[in-house]
Amino acid sequence: MEKSTIKEYLPFTGLFVMAAVLGAIADPVEQPRPFAPSPFVEAKPAEEGTGVVLIRSDEWAEQYPNEYMTYLMNNENDEVTDYIEENPYIRTLYEGYGFAVSYGSARGHTFVIEDVTSTGRPHKLANCFTCKTGDFTAKVLNEGTSAYAMDFADMEVQVTDAFGCFHCHANEPGVIYVTHPYVTAAIGDDFVNVNAANLSCAQCHTEYYFDPVTKETKVAYHGLGQMSPEDILAYENSLVDAEGNLFCDWVDADTGVRKLKVQHPEFETFMGEGSIHMAQMTCADCHMAQTRAEDGTMFTNHNWTSPLENPELIRNTCSQCHQDLTAQVRTIQAATRERENELGYALEQLDKDMAAAIEAGTLNGEALEQARTASRNAQFYWDFVFVENSEGAHNSRLTNACLDQAQAYLDEANACIQGQ
Ligand code: HEC
Ligand code: HEC
Ligand code: HEC
Ligand code: HEC
Repeated sequence: MEKSTIKEYLPFTGLFVMAAVLGAIADPVEQPRPFAPSPFVEAKPAEEGTGVVLIRSDEWAEQYPNEYMTYLMNNENDEVTDYIEENPYIRTLYEGYGFAVSYGSARGHTFVIEDVTSTGRPHKLANCFTCKTGDFTAKVLNEGTSAYAMDFADMEVQVTDAFGCFHCHANEPGVIYVTHPYVTAAIGDDFVNVNAANLSCAQCHTEYYFDPVTKETKVAYHGLGQMSPEDILAYENSLVDAEGNLFCDWVDADTGVRKLKVQHPEFETFMGEGSIHMAQMTCADCHMAQTRAEDGTMFTNHNWTSPLENPELIRNTCSQCHQDLTAQVRTIQAATRERENELGYALEQLDKDMAAAIEAGTLNGEALEQARTASRNAQFYWDFVFVENSEGAHNSRLTNACLDQAQAYLDEANACIQGQ
């Protein structure tokens, strides 16, 4: 891991030296400090089975006013766009699954409980609370993995703190703890190689799944070397459910395709091959910038928003290398959205053509099985991009590679239908 990222860092050296030289010539008071890579900080895995009692976020308000005040600012990030209205083809792609009924965009962390209880999607089990409340995190630490299979309603009444300090700090604000044990397990021996801030976000911004037998929340890899989209798909394709069938999130009724739903793989995308900033920056550098309080103290901003909404960060840090970061990001995102939409409609057409061919009796036997596998894989690669919240900004190379794979599997499925 360490060695392969050195290569990524080399192209920056020239820019870095240039920025340092410019900084030395200009008025030192007006110039930002030259950009320096984020220091490495090691996270701690939270202890399990220790009678953990959760301290609520508001109980830290007095001791850590700046962190708490910026945490409350997440309430201002309250807009939700309707993904189904924006991308009508997902009604077909997710048909038979909750996201075809209701799918709103993400918003501020403090809305998680409201959003999970009012999605309009059916909830059965408490495992839906994994990324929503520290009360459930504490319960899993205390009771072990059996907690995931509890009833959703039984857990709902026990929630005292929504998304809060506990997830990232246990009860020790300032120290980063990984309190979600499935993440500690997934990262394995590489735990000591991942910067604490990245791990704190990886607890939720990751491609998780619910174990088909035990209902535990799990991540589909072991170690950083296995978390490419290819490896994750291969792993999910090797799992079976309690009846011995190929693992899936749901079966499409019209085509028999055993479909997979990807979940916000920000960690895997940012840490994946082709990531420009993985070696020098963490999620916190861009989403939790260092901020000066009125009394002059520097603190870590706990309002998790887009870096483009932080003009100070762009001025002081990003613009040392980027002339117009906003325009650059919007260009990447527009190109990603265009490909995503084009493939989304093509995958919708594939579903319809496959259903028609099955009904007409022209697609069966081995060709049908091959078409089903190709369709499952195509939708997985497309979804890996569609549900990644940066729309290409975190790693445009990996994003495009995924969309290329989606296209290749789509072509394979279409060839099966056409009997080629
Ligand atoms: C999603 C993860 C996350 C949550 C939730 C979170 N923090 Fe933090 N916190 C961080 C990160 C990352 C840092 C920076 C640590 C570093 O860079 O070493 C940090 C730093 C801090 C620090 C050190 C001082 C500073 O500002 O840098 C304090 C104190 C702190 N957080 C308090 C809180 C409190 C209080 C809450 C709840 C209201 C909270 N945090 C919620 C991730 C989180
Ligand atoms: C405990 C789980 C959890 C952790 C830990 C976590 N997040 Fe989130 N995050 C979520 C959920 C869930 C949402 C969507 C909230 C909603 O829409 O109700 C979200 C939303 C966001 C958003 C807003 C997205 C939008 O469209 O407005 C940003 C930005 C974000 N997270 C960044 C981070 C960063 C950076 C970290 C690590 C420092 C982090 N998150 C850690 C669960 C988590
Ligand atoms: C080099 C800077 C950078 C780093 C590092 C980074 N991001 Fe981002 N992130 C961005 C940009 C730029 C966007 C797009 C923002 C926009 O559309 O306005 C984004 C978007 C997001 C969003 C969607 C937010 C929104 O407002 O729509 C989430 C969630 C997110 N990032 C989480 C993470 C997580 C988790 C990590 C670490 C694994 C991470 N980011 C690392 C720059 C970064
Ligand atoms: C030391 C120089 C440097 C600094 C500082 C820097 N960047 Fe970059 N960034 C680059 C280079 C080089 C690239 C790749 C070439 C390009 O796309 O401009 C890049 C690319 C990006 C991309 C596109 C990634 C992709 O995969 O296409 C985003 C988004 C980004 N940077 C965000 C940020 C943000 C946010 C900050 C400030 C917090 C920042 N950068 C600070 C040098 C830098």
